[in-house]
Amino acid sequence: MIRRRRAGGDKELHELALFAREARESAYAPFSRFKVGAAVRLAGGKVITGCNVESASYGLTMCAERVAVFKAVSEGLTRFEAVAVVADSPRLTAPCGACRQVLWELCGDVPLRIEDLRGRARTVKMSELLPLPFDARNL
Ligand code: THU
Repeated sequence: MIRRRRAGGDKELHELALFAREARESAYAPFSRFKVGAAVRLAGGKVITGCNVESASYGLTMCAERVAVFKAVSEGLTRFEAVAVVADSPRLTAPCGACRQVLWELCGDVPLRIEDLRGRARTVKMSELLPLPFDARNL
């Protein structure tokens, strides 16, 4: 857990992505060999990171984004301000559908920074990734 300044523009989001990049190094991905890192910034500036953790029973694999968000919630940290995801692939990697749902429900309409190792980057809002969402308001 590291204290940093508040999320804001692309510069701050890039800084958050640097944490995700570092977390990616811890990815346990012996089956896909596809390493992903994620970082979430909370109110007050704390950063929590995650990486993907795979299982030989493939469906049990957990994505980096959900590891980071669940780690934060498990530590009582729920005031999410921004999310960053870093992978290395021919095109920028955005969160999978399951992670979009979880990020939307727990983080809300926060900025999401996606970056790769070559310097390509994009910032989107969660509501752009998951328009017309299903959430607690539907229940
Ligand atoms: N993965 C993530 O961790 N996050 C994503 O946004 C996309 C997919 C992981 C799951 C699996 O370990 C590997 O990448 C290949 O799907």
